[in-house]
Amino acid sequence: MPFFLMENITKTFNLAAEEVQVLKGINLEINRGEFLAIMGTSGSGKSTLMHLIGCLDVPTSGRFVLDDREISHLSDNELSLIRSRYIGFVFQNFYLLPYATVLENVSLPTLYDEKKTDNKKKRVIELLKQVGLEDRMGFKPSQLSGGQQQRVAIARALVNDPELILADEPTGQLDDKTSREIMSILSKMHQNGKTVVVVTHDADVAGYAQRLIRITDGMICDQTL
Ligand SMILES: Nc1ncnc2c1ncn2[C@@H]1O[C@H](COP(=O)(O)OP(=O)(O)OP(=O)(O)O)[C@@H](O)[C@H]1O
Ligand SMILES: [Mg+2]
Repeated sequence: MPFFLMENITKTFNLAAEEVQVLKGINLEINRGEFLAIMGTSGSGKSTLMHLIGCLDVPTSGRFVLDDREISHLSDNELSLIRSRYIGFVFQNFYLLPYATVLENVSLPTLYDEKKTDNKKKRVIELLKQVGLEDRMGFKPSQLSGGQQQRVAIARALVNDPELILADEPTGQLDDKTSREIMSILSKMHQNGKTVVVVTHDADVAGYAQRLIRITDGMICDQTL
């Protein structure tokens, strides 16, 4: 059984006057430890798919299995438990809290974690070292460059030690050099055993992955190994 499996997943949004079917039967397997890239034109359904993979939303129909557990029809509470246990998110817009320091931003996901707290601060500092920000811990996001802010977001995504890292356009706001820095950090996480899925418009960014899928109009139209 793959780590993650989607069978014939559809997603339809109901707007006031119409139904919009965004995903039209997605079949996707992701193996443990894999580095996968997803490309596709704007509006093709990539972020919608990432929201489903990340348990931020539920499919309209289809089967959905994570780590041997059927999760297609779980409640919001059950999904949020799965998210905090398995998944770390990195987004294009970083989504850092503006008034919190780097250290506080990275610590945030641990607030919902009921495990003993003694080692948490140590772990946050260790992660900030891994992303090269140990000398910026007391800074606010506005005092950081875009690349540094994204590194804070990556450290935050890793703090609960998730198996799966989902990155939706993680380099969308960054220049080429900074994009390469961010992608080498994500590659390092992959080498450390994480499963990584990245959505991107940039073929160079996709080049870091082991496998590429393309989405057109809500369907996977191409898979390359
Ligand atoms: N909550 C929603 N309600 C209604 N329609 C939605 C919703 N979310 C997404 N859509 C529609 O689904 C389609 C796909 O959106 P999605 O964000 O998945 O595209 P995308 O491939 O990520 O595009 P981009 O590359 O621009 O980020 C769009 O037509 C969008 O309008
Ligand atoms: Mg998107």
